[in-house]
Amino acid sequence: MKYNPFRPNSIVSPKLFHGREEEMKFIEQSLFQTKYGNPQHFLIEGERGLGKSSLFLMVEQQASGKLPLGNSDYVNFIVINIELDSTQSIFEILKCIANEFKRALSEKEKVKNMAIGVWEFLNKWEVLGVRYHKIDESLIQPYEILNELVVNFEKVIKQAKGELDGILILIDEADRPSVKASLGEIVKLLTEKLTKKGCDQVVIGMTGQPGLIEKLKESHESSSRIFTTLSLKPLSLAESNAVVLSGIEEANTINKNETATTKEAVHLISQLSEGYPHFLQEFAYKAFEIDTDNVIDAKDVKDGAFGIHGALNQLGHKYFNELYFTQIGSDDYRKVLQAMSKFSDNWVDREKINSEISIKEHTLNNAIQALKNRNIIIANPAQKGEFRLPTKSFAAWIKAFYVLNTEPFA
Ligand SMILES: Nc1ncnc2c1ncn2[C@@H]1O[C@H](COP(=O)(O)OP(=O)(O)OP(=O)(O)O)[C@@H](O)[C@H]1O
Ligand SMILES: [Mg+2]
Repeated sequence: MKYNPFRPNSIVSPKLFHGREEEMKFIEQSLFQTKYGNPQHFLIEGERGLGKSSLFLMVEQQASGKLPLGNSDYVNFIVINIELDSTQSIFEILKCIANEFKRALSEKEKVKNMAIGVWEFLNKWEVLGVRYHKIDESLIQPYEILNELVVNFEKVIKQAKGELDGILILIDEADRPSVKASLGEIVKLLTEKLTKKGCDQVVIGMTGQPGLIEKLKESHESSSRIFTTLSLKPLSLAESNAVVLSGIEEANTINKNETATTKEAVHLISQLSEGYPHFLQEFAYKAFEIDTDNVIDAKDVKDGAFGIHGALNQLGHKYFNELYFTQIGSDDYRKVLQAMSKFSDNWVDREKINSEISIKEHTLNNAIQALKNRNIIIANPAQKGEFRLPTKSFAAWIKAFYVLNTEPFA
């Protein structure tokens, strides 16, 4: 048995975390500004599996003072880190913030003792939360609850002055609640109420999939203006290699027998992954698992990628099978997707598809129509006859099969 350091199914540990320097720098700046009363709220958009939650975990650790910032300084924020889901109402989102406020405050004994009344409020809130649940939610006034939260944010900041740098509210999966949950309105009102009270040491960060901004706007037209938006990109080749190498390094501090890797193997993992962190973790995990001689080589990477339990199949199950297998019955249609994947998620026309595969004109037309109707490809609204794959990671997954010279299977 050997300890496998890679984590295809969970948020990355700080030791294996690489890249995201630009985003971290921006957030550090934002924390610094918040400490001195000029919060810069931020919104991070990114496809599934690109590392949004992992980034927020790093930010949480830094902002709460568990890890140093990039310049080795420490800050001391109360970090409310919540993850939303599609079933939550406005009341439940506020309840979630209050509960997490309580947990975060309980971690800071000194601040907790200084913030007279806030701890009592949060305890009372918990009791109220249970009672509220038993009555008709439509009778609850969410805006009163929002007011109470703001009053208590203000209290804790004033009373723990000198000890506390501010409050950071991180909202992960912010695209998931329905528009009815009014998240855009909540953040807009929250920031306005704080400003009116002169309580300017609270900063909000959000993540979600592309489309989050439009969704916020639907709930409150000007809510998106509060935020500076950053788009997460895939990791660079050097960062991808570093993820694999630091995983091996971590394993070697734990396992009795050291594991080595060939340069070719590391390069192949990075190449197949195209910078997608969840691909990196999956390919590396499987290569590490399948290796028997404590040297991970390109064959281990390839063997780990194939098979029913292989990395490609796992990624398919998690993200792509629905698009690639369940919704498409025809191999010809899949060939069209394969041709399109060569162009990542860029616009392509029939000519480009034809340059990659030979396919009869009417089959291509049928394929495009069917793929478009099922939302597997997107038509360019500005240019008739142009289409693209919905995400770069879908293209990278299809492409990995060519690199390995195999056919996908469901
Ligand atoms: N910066 C990073 N360095 C190394 N590995 C990472 C990094 N970011 C994420 N990962 C890994 O990538 C995978 C996806 O990460 P994470 O869950 O944070 O992404 P996400 O964008 O929140 O995904 P989802 O949209 O599905 O919630 C995990 O296996 C995680 O360990
Ligand atoms: Mg996530």
